[in-house]
Amino acid sequence: MNVKRPPRLAAVSLLLLVLPALAQQPAPEFMPLEAAEPTLQAFAGSLPPELQTNVAGWSDWVKAQDVSIRERLVKGEDDTLTNLLRWGVTFTDEYQINREYLAKYGTSTLVNAFADKRANDLVRALAAPGSSQGMQQMRAFLLKQGYSFRTPRERARVKQHLLDNLARMRDEFAQFREKLKTADSAEEGNLYAERGISLDSNLWPDYALDRSLSELLDAGLLKRGSIRKIAVVGPGLDFANKDFGNDFYPPQSFQSFAILDSLARLGLTDLANFELYTLDISPSVNIHIAATQKTATAGKPYVVQLPWNSSVPFSPEYFAAFQPWWQQLGSRIGAAVKPVQVPGKVADDVQIRAVSIRPEIARRVTPIDMNVVFQRLPLKDEQRFDLIIGTNIFIYYGPFEQSLARANLGAMLKPGGIVLSNDMLSGKVPSRLVEAHRTDIVVRSNPQIVEHVFCYRREP
Ligand SMILES: C[S@@+](CC[C@H](N)C(=O)[O-])C[C@H]1O[C@@H](n2cnc3c(N)ncnc32)[C@H](O)[C@@H]1O
Repeated sequence: MNVKRPPRLAAVSLLLLVLPALAQQPAPEFMPLEAAEPTLQAFAGSLPPELQTNVAGWSDWVKAQDVSIRERLVKGEDDTLTNLLRWGVTFTDEYQINREYLAKYGTSTLVNAFADKRANDLVRALAAPGSSQGMQQMRAFLLKQGYSFRTPRERARVKQHLLDNLARMRDEFAQFREKLKTADSAEEGNLYAERGISLDSNLWPDYALDRSLSELLDAGLLKRGSIRKIAVVGPGLDFANKDFGNDFYPPQSFQSFAILDSLARLGLTDLANFELYTLDISPSVNIHIAATQKTATAGKPYVVQLPWNSSVPFSPEYFAAFQPWWQQLGSRIGAAVKPVQVPGKVADDVQIRAVSIRPEIARRVTPIDMNVVFQRLPLKDEQRFDLIIGTNIFIYYGPFEQSLARANLGAMLKPGGIVLSNDMLSGKVPSRLVEAHRTDIVVRSNPQIVEHVFCYRREP
């Protein structure tokens, strides 16, 4: 296998730079059996078979499950690659494969022809990725999986992998549509429990979080200046996301900064005095944030693109409310700069701004490699978080795992601290996290689609 490793020295120095901040934090630990017991009891009838017969085997089980959750990232990366194949605009002139076309893949000669041409063009781009960071990362991912680009035969194997994944995504979407027809609200909370874990991200959840924070302030659930220590679970890495693809700028992780910008604007956080940690299982996310922290520590700003796509089927009322937020997004943490050029093919649909985030802000975002379903930071009272945010994460887990995560999040929060998520956390097990507020945002009418942000407050 031809895996290119980063130079050893660079990796060591990256870690050393991150260490001073991490040194103030205890390392994540696996959830102890006592902490998991209420969940094990509540799910006694439906526990995984290995635990039904041997609860004492908890600590081995939890480690093995952590490994298997992390393995789901590989399938998630394959989904990112498939989204690049469907939507990418930098390597091909071919039509994009939207949901309608995807459903016809395999049965329509027209769609098969688009897909075939796109796959040829993508293999060519992956074989010679040039300076495109995203393409380099996708190539490195494939090399790690044992693929190669050396001979026509090996390139044909990559193409077949891309097309097989396209067919897999088509089938998963069809199953998903079926599931949605009958899902009740509890099932809607874990619709992706069988899926690969992807890293994609966009600005819609950040806008929803801003609305939620503002409502919490108005409702007196949050007080000005009260949020100093923040955790963002799973901030993601925006590259070829599943709505419309974004391969015309380098991969970026923006969610932590969008949240900081909202917190500062609402007067909830003093930017001269905050700590923000990202808690993520993905090496790609963690390495990206560590590298951002390193360059910011050396005095360089972090430049991010802020695109959104006006072709998504949201209502005019939603866009009218979203746009003023987007126009001033980043103004508290940086300054507007010229965005990248949007390729002509999507220029009518993509609205874009860019922001250069001040180094003194970017260097204070510290990555922690951790699985919030099975791990927690053993924090002393004064080290606990005021606010933990995680969007589009818990939907990847069933009620049992969500209950474990709920206990872990609760254990890392200060009394009165808040968890915000757009996924409803399973409430089957009594926990110290109590639902305190819900923000509803109508994104589309007829049929009506409402986005929610759930707010859970840690009881004293
Ligand atoms: C789909 S992305 C969501 C990105 C961003 N939060 C958003 O809403 O746009 C899911 C993120 O959660 C992370 N993640 C998934 N399961 C996790 C877990 N158990 N613990 C920590 N991070 C997790 C993934 O690695 C990824 O960064």
